[in-house]
Amino acid sequence: MTDLHAPSPPALSRRRYAIVGVGSRHRLYQDAIETTYSEHAELVALVDTNAGRIALAQRESVRHAAPSPVGYAAADFSRMLTECRPNTVIVTTPDATHHDYAIRAMEAGCDVIIEKPMATDAEQCRRLLDVRRRTGRRCRVTFNYRYSPPRSQVKDLLLQGAIGDVLSVDFHWLLNTHHGADYFRRWHSSKRNSGGLFVHKATHHFDLVNWWLGAQPVAVQASGKREFYTPATARRLGLSGPHERCGTCPEAARCDFRLDLQADAALRELYLEQERHDGYVRDRCVFRADIDIEDTMNALVTYDTGATLSYSLNAFNAWEGYTVAFNGTSGRIEHTLVESTYVGGVETAPLPGGQARALTRVIPLRGAAREIEPWTAPGSHGGGDRLMLEDLLADTPPADPLGRAADERAGACSILVGIAANRSLATGARVALADLIGPLPAAESRPRPVRREGAVAQFAGR
Ligand SMILES: NC(=O)c1ccc[n+]([C@@H]2O[C@H](COP(=O)([O-])OP(=O)(O)OC[C@H]3O[C@@H](n4cnc5c(N)ncnc54)[C@H](O)[C@@H]3O)[C@@H](O)[C@H]2O)c1
Repeated sequence: MTDLHAPSPPALSRRRYAIVGVGSRHRLYQDAIETTYSEHAELVALVDTNAGRIALAQRESVRHAAPSPVGYAAADFSRMLTECRPNTVIVTTPDATHHDYAIRAMEAGCDVIIEKPMATDAEQCRRLLDVRRRTGRRCRVTFNYRYSPPRSQVKDLLLQGAIGDVLSVDFHWLLNTHHGADYFRRWHSSKRNSGGLFVHKATHHFDLVNWWLGAQPVAVQASGKREFYTPATARRLGLSGPHERCGTCPEAARCDFRLDLQADAALRELYLEQERHDGYVRDRCVFRADIDIEDTMNALVTYDTGATLSYSLNAFNAWEGYTVAFNGTSGRIEHTLVESTYVGGVETAPLPGGQARALTRVIPLRGAAREIEPWTAPGSHGGGDRLMLEDLLADTPPADPLGRAADERAGACSILVGIAANRSLATGARVALADLIGPLPAAESRPRPVRREGAVAQFAGR
C-alpha cells in the first residue's frame, strides 16, 4: 500500500512556492500545489499578518499529507525569502499591498503570481513594471475570468473573425446583493485598500475587453456614485440606521443584509475566531457612513484600434451576471451569462444544475442569427479557476491558442483603466492612460483574426 506520509521526491525537482496572504483566496493555490500539482510543486512558506490564519493553513497541509510550510509574520517576509528560497511567490493579500510583496519577491530573484488587481494606483503600477523589466523575473496576473469556457469561446469567435473588426462594445456587469454587498463589509470598502470597484472588481472586466479585442485602452471618461450602501438605505429598509457590525447589531434579526459569521463554519473559523489576532472584522455593516467606494459606475473607454467601450457596474442588483455585445464590421456578437437569478435573504439562489447559464448569439449584418452551443467546464468561477491553475502550475502547461496567460502588461492595462476612471470621477475630466504612467512596455504582437474553424474546441474544458 502506498504510504501517503512517505518522504517526498527530491525537493530540487519540485518548484518551491510561498504564499503571502492566507485568507479565503489563497486556498485555491494551496490546495492545487499540495494535491493536483504536488508532483512538481511544493508549498514551502506561508506569510500573513494573522498568526491564526497561518496556523489554519498549516493544518490544511497536514490534511493534504503535504510537507508543512513554514509560517512567517508579514514583517518577516524578507527573512522568509532568504530562508525558504521560493522559486515563486503567490500574492493573495488585500489589493493595495500586492505591488510591494511582488516587487520585493522579484528583487530577491523570485517569479511572482499576483492576484488581481495587480496594484491599486499608478505609482504602484509604474514601480512594479520597472522592477519586472529590470529583474527579468516572470510575473503572472491571475485573470481567471479569461479561462471561463463561455468567455474563452467569445475570444475564439472574435479570433475566427465571426463579426469582422470590432468597432464598439457594450458591457454591463451586475452584482447581486449577496455578492455585491460583501465588498461593502470589509477592507474592499475603503479605496485606500482596494482602489474601489473600478479597480478591485472591474479589473477583471477591463482585462476581458482588452484581451477579447487584442487592443490597448487609451482614455477613460467615468462617472460613479454610492447610492445604495448608505445610511439612508438602512432607514429606507426600516432600520434605525447603520450599526457597527452584524455580530453585535441590535437589529440583525430584521436586516436582510445580515452576515452571520457564527452560523457559517467556514467563515467562523477563517475570520471570527482569528479576529483576536488583528481585529479584522469580516461582518461590518454595509450601510456604514465611512464607506468611500462607489456602488454604481459607468465608463466610456477608447482603444488604440479606434474601438469604444460603454461599461457599467452595479453592485446591488436583483440578479448576478453580465451582458456584453460586440458590434463589428460584419455583424454583432451578443453574450449573456446569468450566474444567479435572485437573492433570498442573504443567500444567492443557485441555478438549476449549479452552472451559470450562458447565451451567445452571432448576428451577421446580412442573414440569420445563430445561437452558439456554450462551452462548459466544471468548477469554481465557471470552471475558469481549474483551467487557470493548469496554466499556472502544470510542469508543461498546454499550448493555448487563445493566449489566456496574463503578464504584468495585461495587469497594468486593466488596472490603469480603473485608475483612470477613478481620476475621472474625481476631476470630471477624460483621462488619458499615458498621462498616468507614461508609455506602457511594448505590446506583444496582436493576434490577427484568423479563421480556424473548431481549432480550439478542445479548450471547452481540457
Ligand atoms: N480572481 C478572483 O476571482 C479572486 C477572488 C477572490 C479574491 N481575489 C483576490 O485575492 C486577494 C485576497 O482576497 P481574499 O478574499 O482572500 O481576502 P481575505 O481578507 O480573505 O484574505 C486576505 C489575507 O491577507 C492577510 N493580510 C492582510 N494584510 C496583510 C499584509 N499587509 N501582509 C500580509 N498579509 C496580509 C489577511 O490577514 C488575510 O489572511 C485580493 O487581492 C482579491 O482581489 C481574487
